[in-house]
Amino acid sequence: MNAGIVGIGRYLPEKVVTNADLEKIMDTSDEWIRTRTGIEERRIADDNTKTSDMGLAAAQKAIEDAGITPEEIDLILVATVTPDLPFPSVACMLQERLGAKKAAAMDVSAACAGFMYGIVTAKQFVEAGVYKHVLVVGVEKLSKATDWNDRNTAVLFGDGAGAVIVGEVSENRGILSFELGADGTGAKHLYQDEYIIMNGREVFKFAVRQMGESCINVLEKAGLTKEDVDFLIPHQANIRIMEASRQRLELPVEKMSKTVHKYGNTSAASIPISLVEEIEAGKIKDDDIIVMVGFGGGLTWGAIAIRWGK
Ligand code: UT7
Repeated sequence: MNAGIVGIGRYLPEKVVTNADLEKIMDTSDEWIRTRTGIEERRIADDNTKTSDMGLAAAQKAIEDAGITPEEIDLILVATVTPDLPFPSVACMLQERLGAKKAAAMDVSAACAGFMYGIVTAKQFVEAGVYKHVLVVGVEKLSKATDWNDRNTAVLFGDGAGAVIVGEVSENRGILSFELGADGTGAKHLYQDEYIIMNGREVFKFAVRQMGESCINVLEKAGLTKEDVDFLIPHQANIRIMEASRQRLELPVEKMSKTVHKYGNTSAASIPISLVEEIEAGKIKDDDIIVMVGFGGGLTWGAIAIRWGK
Protein backbone atom coordinates (compact mmCIF):
# COMPACT_ATOMS: atom_id res chain seq x y z
CA MET A 1 0.00 0.00 0.00
CA ASN A 2 1.29 3.49 -0.87
CA ALA A 3 0.50 6.59 1.16
CA GLY A 4 0.25 9.95 -0.56
CA ILE A 5 -1.48 13.30 -0.38
CA VAL A 6 -5.16 13.11 -1.32
CA GLY A 7 -6.40 16.55 -0.23
CA ILE A 8 -4.91 20.01 0.37
CA GLY A 9 -5.94 23.33 1.93
CA ARG A 10 -4.45 26.51 3.32
CA TYR A 11 -5.40 29.63 5.21
CA LEU A 12 -3.64 32.98 5.41
CA PRO A 13 -4.71 35.94 7.52
CA GLU A 14 -5.82 38.95 5.50
CA LYS A 15 -3.63 41.56 7.16
CA VAL A 16 -0.50 42.29 5.12
CA VAL A 17 2.51 43.84 6.90
CA THR A 18 5.08 45.15 4.43
CA ASN A 19 8.76 45.85 5.00
CA ALA A 20 7.87 49.54 4.80
CA ASP A 21 5.48 49.03 7.73
CA LEU A 22 8.33 47.50 9.76
CA GLU A 23 10.65 50.39 8.89
CA LYS A 24 8.24 52.59 10.86
CA ILE A 25 8.49 50.57 14.08
CA MET A 26 12.13 49.36 14.15
CA ASP A 27 15.60 50.18 12.89
CA THR A 28 15.50 48.21 9.64
CA SER A 29 15.07 48.81 5.92
CA ASP A 30 13.17 47.28 3.06
CA GLU A 31 16.49 46.97 1.25
CA TRP A 32 18.13 44.96 4.08
CA ILE A 33 15.17 42.61 4.49
CA ARG A 34 14.80 41.96 0.74
CA THR A 35 18.46 41.36 0.04
CA ARG A 36 19.21 39.26 3.15
CA THR A 37 15.98 37.22 3.21
CA GLY A 38 13.89 37.71 0.05
CA ILE A 39 10.91 38.72 2.21
CA GLU A 40 8.76 41.63 0.99
CA GLU A 41 5.68 41.21 3.17
CA ARG A 42 4.07 38.79 5.59
CA ARG A 43 0.56 38.05 6.91
CA ILE A 44 -0.22 38.72 10.55
CA ALA A 45 -3.28 37.28 12.31
CA ASP A 46 -5.42 39.64 14.38
CA ASP A 47 -5.69 39.31 18.16
CA ASN A 48 -8.90 37.28 17.94
CA THR A 49 -7.52 34.71 15.51
CA LYS A 50 -5.84 31.82 17.23
CA THR A 51 -3.59 29.10 15.86
CA SER A 52 -6.53 26.68 16.07
CA ASP A 53 -8.75 29.03 14.01
CA MET A 54 -6.21 29.13 11.18
CA GLY A 55 -5.59 25.38 11.39
CA LEU A 56 -9.32 24.70 11.29
CA ALA A 57 -9.81 26.79 8.14
CA ALA A 58 -6.98 25.00 6.31
CA ALA A 59 -8.15 21.58 7.55
CA GLN A 60 -11.72 22.13 6.37
CA LYS A 61 -10.46 22.88 2.87
CA ALA A 62 -8.20 19.81 2.82
CA ILE A 63 -11.07 17.57 3.95
CA GLU A 64 -13.35 18.98 1.26
CA ASP A 65 -10.61 18.63 -1.36
CA ALA A 66 -10.11 14.97 -0.40
CA GLY A 67 -13.84 14.36 -0.78
CA ILE A 68 -14.16 12.81 2.67
CA THR A 69 -16.15 13.65 5.79
CA PRO A 70 -14.57 14.55 9.15
CA GLU A 71 -15.86 11.23 10.53
CA GLU A 72 -13.54 9.43 8.11
CA ILE A 73 -10.40 10.92 9.68
CA ASP A 74 -8.52 8.43 11.86
CA LEU A 75 -5.75 10.65 13.19
CA ILE A 76 -5.07 14.39 13.42
CA LEU A 77 -1.46 15.59 13.62
CA VAL A 78 -0.89 19.31 14.07
CA ALA A 79 2.66 20.57 13.61
CA THR A 80 3.02 23.80 15.54
CA VAL A 81 5.24 25.58 18.05
CA THR A 82 2.60 28.21 18.71
CA PRO A 83 -0.36 26.24 20.11
CA ASP A 84 -3.27 28.17 21.65
CA LEU A 85 -2.42 26.58 25.02
CA PRO A 86 0.29 24.18 26.30
CA PHE A 87 -2.57 21.67 26.43
CA PRO A 88 -5.01 20.52 25.21
CA SER A 89 -3.31 20.19 21.86
CA VAL A 90 -4.42 22.14 18.82
CA ALA A 91 -5.11 18.71 17.29
CA CYS A 92 -7.71 18.01 20.00
CA MET A 93 -9.28 21.42 19.41
CA LEU A 94 -9.59 20.60 15.71
CA GLN A 95 -10.95 17.14 16.50
CA GLU A 96 -13.83 18.78 18.35
CA ARG A 97 -14.44 21.65 15.95
CA LEU A 98 -14.29 19.46 12.84
CA GLY A 99 -16.51 16.80 14.38
CA ALA A 100 -13.84 14.19 13.65
CA LYS A 101 -15.44 11.79 16.12
CA LYS A 102 -13.25 8.77 15.35
CA ALA A 103 -9.91 10.57 15.24
CA ALA A 104 -7.01 10.32 17.66
CA ALA A 105 -5.22 13.65 17.97
CA MET A 106 -1.83 15.04 18.95
CA ASP A 107 0.49 17.93 18.20
CA VAL A 108 3.95 17.48 16.72
CA SER A 109 6.73 19.71 18.06
CA ALA A 110 9.59 19.88 15.56
CA ALA A 111 9.52 23.61 14.79
CA CYS A 112 9.89 24.43 11.09
CA ALA A 113 10.43 20.74 10.25
CA GLY A 114 7.18 19.84 12.01
CA PHE A 115 5.12 19.37 8.87
CA MET A 116 7.69 16.92 7.50
CA TYR A 117 7.64 14.99 10.78
CA GLY A 118 3.84 14.96 10.62
CA ILE A 119 3.59 13.72 7.08
CA VAL A 120 6.16 10.96 7.62
CA THR A 121 4.30 9.82 10.76
CA ALA A 122 1.04 9.80 8.80
CA LYS A 123 2.64 7.69 6.07
CA GLN A 124 3.56 4.97 8.57
CA PHE A 125 0.00 4.61 9.88
CA VAL A 126 -1.52 4.53 6.39
CA GLU A 127 1.00 2.10 4.94
CA ALA A 128 0.66 -0.20 7.97
CA GLY A 129 -3.00 -0.44 7.01
CA VAL A 130 -4.22 0.70 10.42
CA TYR A 131 -5.50 4.16 9.44
CA LYS A 132 -7.10 5.28 6.19
CA HIS A 133 -7.02 9.05 6.47
CA VAL A 134 -4.64 11.19 8.50
CA LEU A 135 -5.11 14.95 8.65
CA VAL A 136 -1.73 16.71 8.87
CA VAL A 137 -1.79 20.44 9.60
CA GLY A 138 1.14 22.86 9.75
CA VAL A 139 0.05 26.07 11.46
CA GLU A 140 1.75 28.92 13.26
CA LYS A 141 0.88 32.21 14.86
CA LEU A 142 4.52 33.28 15.12
CA SER A 143 3.54 36.92 15.60
CA LYS A 144 2.72 36.08 19.23
CA ALA A 145 6.15 34.50 19.78
CA THR A 146 8.00 37.40 18.19
CA ASP A 147 9.81 40.14 20.09
CA TRP A 148 8.78 43.15 18.03
CA ASN A 149 11.77 45.04 19.47
CA ASP A 150 14.27 42.52 18.07
CA ARG A 151 15.04 43.33 14.45
CA ASN A 152 17.13 40.15 14.13
CA THR A 153 13.96 38.03 14.25
CA ALA A 154 10.90 40.28 13.90
CA VAL A 155 11.36 40.87 10.18
CA LEU A 156 11.45 37.15 9.38
CA PHE A 157 8.22 35.57 10.52
CA GLY A 158 4.58 35.41 9.50
CA ASP A 159 1.34 33.61 10.37
CA GLY A 160 -0.61 31.02 8.37
CA ALA A 161 -1.75 27.43 7.97
CA GLY A 162 -1.56 24.58 5.48
CA ALA A 163 -3.17 21.15 5.68
CA VAL A 164 -3.18 17.86 3.82
CA ILE A 165 -4.99 14.55 4.04
CA VAL A 166 -2.64 11.59 3.81
CA GLY A 167 -4.34 8.46 2.46
CA GLU A 168 -3.89 5.54 0.12
CA VAL A 169 -2.90 6.36 -3.47
CA SER A 170 -2.44 4.19 -6.54
CA GLU A 171 0.61 2.05 -7.16
CA ASN A 172 3.82 3.98 -7.99
CA ARG A 173 2.42 7.22 -6.62
CA GLY A 174 2.75 8.70 -3.16
CA ILE A 175 5.61 9.20 -0.69
CA LEU A 176 8.58 7.28 -2.11
CA SER A 177 11.16 7.99 0.57
CA PHE A 178 11.84 10.15 3.59
CA GLU A 179 14.51 11.38 5.93
CA LEU A 180 14.02 12.77 9.41
CA GLY A 181 16.76 13.94 11.73
CA ALA A 182 17.59 15.88 14.86
CA ASP A 183 20.65 17.39 16.48
CA GLY A 184 19.91 18.63 19.97
CA THR A 185 23.42 20.02 20.33
CA GLY A 186 22.24 22.91 18.13
CA ALA A 187 19.26 23.77 20.37
CA LYS A 188 21.03 26.89 21.61
CA HIS A 189 20.99 28.47 18.15
CA LEU A 190 17.20 28.68 17.85
CA TYR A 191 14.70 28.44 20.68
CA GLN A 192 11.80 30.16 22.36
CA ASP A 193 12.00 31.38 25.92
CA GLU A 194 9.46 34.16 26.17
CA TYR A 195 10.16 35.08 22.56
CA ILE A 196 12.05 33.49 19.68
CA ILE A 197 15.83 33.76 20.13
CA MET A 198 18.06 32.98 17.17
CA ASN A 199 21.68 32.92 16.15
CA GLY A 200 20.92 33.63 12.49
CA ARG A 201 24.37 32.87 11.12
CA GLU A 202 24.62 29.45 12.79
CA VAL A 203 21.12 28.45 11.70
CA PHE A 204 21.90 29.66 8.19
CA LYS A 205 25.01 27.47 7.92
CA PHE A 206 23.21 24.43 9.30
CA ALA A 207 20.24 24.97 6.98
CA VAL A 208 22.28 25.31 3.80
CA ARG A 209 24.20 22.11 4.54
CA GLN A 210 21.30 20.04 5.84
CA MET A 211 18.67 20.99 3.26
CA GLY A 212 20.99 20.07 0.40
CA GLU A 213 22.04 16.76 2.02
CA SER A 214 18.48 15.74 2.81
CA CYS A 215 17.35 16.41 -0.76
CA ILE A 216 20.09 14.17 -2.12
CA ASN A 217 19.43 11.50 0.53
CA VAL A 218 15.71 11.15 -0.20
CA LEU A 219 16.40 10.92 -3.93
CA GLU A 220 18.96 8.17 -3.36
CA LYS A 221 16.59 6.28 -1.08
CA ALA A 222 13.90 6.45 -3.78
CA GLY A 223 16.32 5.25 -6.46
CA LEU A 224 16.09 8.62 -8.23
CA THR A 225 18.60 11.21 -9.40
CA LYS A 226 18.59 15.02 -9.54
CA GLU A 227 17.43 14.83 -13.16
CA ASP A 228 14.21 13.14 -12.06
CA VAL A 229 13.08 16.07 -9.90
CA ASP A 230 10.21 18.12 -11.34
CA PHE A 231 9.66 20.44 -8.41
CA LEU A 232 11.31 21.44 -5.13
CA ILE A 233 9.30 22.75 -2.19
CA PRO A 234 11.78 23.95 0.43
CA HIS A 235 10.89 25.44 3.81
CA GLN A 236 10.46 29.13 3.14
CA ALA A 237 12.87 30.67 5.66
CA ASN A 238 15.22 32.70 3.52
CA ILE A 239 15.59 32.88 -0.25
CA ARG A 240 19.37 32.47 0.05
CA ILE A 241 18.97 29.16 1.91
CA MET A 242 16.34 27.99 -0.58
CA GLU A 243 18.57 28.91 -3.51
CA ALA A 244 21.38 26.80 -2.07
CA SER A 245 19.10 23.74 -2.11
CA ARG A 246 17.93 24.50 -5.62
CA GLN A 247 21.51 24.77 -6.84
CA ARG A 248 22.42 21.53 -5.11
CA LEU A 249 19.71 19.83 -7.19
CA GLU A 250 20.74 21.82 -10.29
CA LEU A 251 17.14 22.85 -10.86
CA PRO A 252 16.04 25.90 -12.87
CA VAL A 253 14.45 28.76 -10.87
CA GLU A 254 10.93 28.00 -12.11
CA LYS A 255 11.10 24.51 -10.57
CA MET A 256 11.39 25.77 -7.01
CA SER A 257 8.44 26.98 -5.01
CA LYS A 258 8.83 30.53 -3.72
CA THR A 259 6.29 32.09 -1.40
CA VAL A 260 8.71 33.58 1.13
CA HIS A 261 8.42 37.03 -0.48
CA LYS A 262 4.67 37.12 0.27
CA TYR A 263 4.37 35.28 3.56
CA GLY A 264 7.80 35.36 5.25
CA ASN A 265 8.77 32.34 7.34
CA THR A 266 5.60 30.64 8.61
CA SER A 267 7.55 27.75 10.19
CA ALA A 268 5.58 24.48 10.10
CA ALA A 269 3.03 26.05 7.73
CA SER A 270 5.42 27.12 5.00
CA ILE A 271 5.73 23.84 3.07
CA PRO A 272 2.00 23.00 2.92
CA ILE A 273 1.10 26.62 2.09
CA SER A 274 3.61 26.54 -0.77
CA LEU A 275 2.34 23.16 -1.96
CA VAL A 276 -1.21 24.50 -2.23
CA GLU A 277 0.00 27.61 -4.09
CA GLU A 278 1.86 25.54 -6.67
CA ILE A 279 -1.04 23.14 -7.20
CA GLU A 280 -3.44 26.06 -7.62
CA ALA A 281 -1.05 27.71 -10.08
CA GLY A 282 -1.06 24.49 -12.13
CA LYS A 283 2.68 23.98 -11.72
CA ILE A 284 2.45 20.44 -10.37
CA LYS A 285 1.01 17.64 -12.53
CA ASP A 286 0.18 14.04 -11.77
CA ASP A 287 3.26 11.80 -11.68
CA ASP A 288 5.64 14.72 -11.10
CA ILE A 289 8.47 13.95 -8.68
CA ILE A 290 8.47 16.52 -5.90
CA VAL A 291 11.01 16.95 -3.13
CA MET A 292 9.85 18.70 0.05
CA VAL A 293 12.47 19.64 2.62
CA GLY A 294 12.44 21.52 5.91
CA PHE A 295 14.70 22.40 8.83
CA GLY A 296 14.15 24.17 12.11
CA GLY A 297 14.67 24.61 15.81
CA GLY A 298 15.75 21.54 17.73
CA LEU A 299 17.66 21.41 15.53
CA THR A 300 15.45 19.26 13.30
CA TRP A 301 15.15 18.41 9.65
CA GLY A 302 13.01 16.34 7.35
CA ALA A 303 12.47 15.63 3.68
CA ILE A 304 10.34 13.48 1.40
CA ALA A 305 10.35 12.54 -2.25
CA ILE A 306 6.82 12.06 -3.55
CA ARG A 307 5.33 11.09 -6.88
CA TRP A 308 2.31 13.35 -7.12
CA GLY A 309 -1.23 12.11 -7.70
CA LYS A 310 -3.89 9.98 -6.07
O1 UT7 B 1 12.97 28.51 10.05
C1 UT7 B 1 14.22 28.60 10.65
C2 UT7 B 1 14.37 29.97 11.21
N1 UT7 B 1 15.56 30.69 10.99
C3 UT7 B 1 16.21 30.94 9.85
O2 UT7 B 1 15.95 30.38 8.83
C4 UT7 B 1 17.28 31.95 9.91
C5 UT7 B 1 18.52 31.60 9.16
N2 UT7 B 1 19.38 32.77 9.11
C6 UT7 B 1 19.13 33.77 8.26
O3 UT7 B 1 18.19 33.74 7.50
C7 UT7 B 1 20.10 34.93 8.25
O4 UT7 B 1 21.20 34.63 9.07
C8 UT7 B 1 19.47 36.26 8.72
C9 UT7 B 1 18.50 36.75 7.65
C10 UT7 B 1 18.75 36.08 10.04
C11 UT7 B 1 20.54 37.32 8.89
O5 UT7 B 1 21.29 37.46 7.69
P1 UT7 B 1 22.88 37.49 7.74
O6 UT7 B 1 23.32 37.74 6.36
O7 UT7 B 1 23.34 36.22 8.41
O8 UT7 B 1 23.17 38.76 8.60
P2 UT7 B 1 23.94 38.87 10.01
O9 UT7 B 1 23.21 38.16 11.09
O10 UT7 B 1 25.34 38.50 9.74
O11 UT7 B 1 23.82 40.42 10.30
C12 UT7 B 1 24.40 41.37 9.46
C13 UT7 B 1 24.12 42.76 10.00
C14 UT7 B 1 24.37 42.91 11.50
O12 UT7 B 1 24.97 44.16 11.69
P3 UT7 B 1 26.55 44.25 12.01
O13 UT7 B 1 26.73 43.49 13.28
O14 UT7 B 1 27.23 43.61 10.82
O15 UT7 B 1 26.76 45.73 12.12
C15 UT7 B 1 22.97 42.95 12.09
O16 UT7 B 1 22.90 43.72 13.26
O17 UT7 B 1 22.75 43.10 9.79
C16 UT7 B 1 22.20 43.62 11.00
N3 UT7 B 1 20.77 43.31 11.02
C17 UT7 B 1 19.83 44.11 10.49
N4 UT7 B 1 19.89 45.29 9.85
C18 UT7 B 1 18.76 45.81 9.41
C19 UT7 B 1 20.18 42.22 11.55
N5 UT7 B 1 18.84 42.31 11.36
C20 UT7 B 1 18.61 43.47 10.71
C21 UT7 B 1 17.44 44.08 10.23
N6 UT7 B 1 17.55 45.25 9.58
N7 UT7 B 1 16.21 43.54 10.37
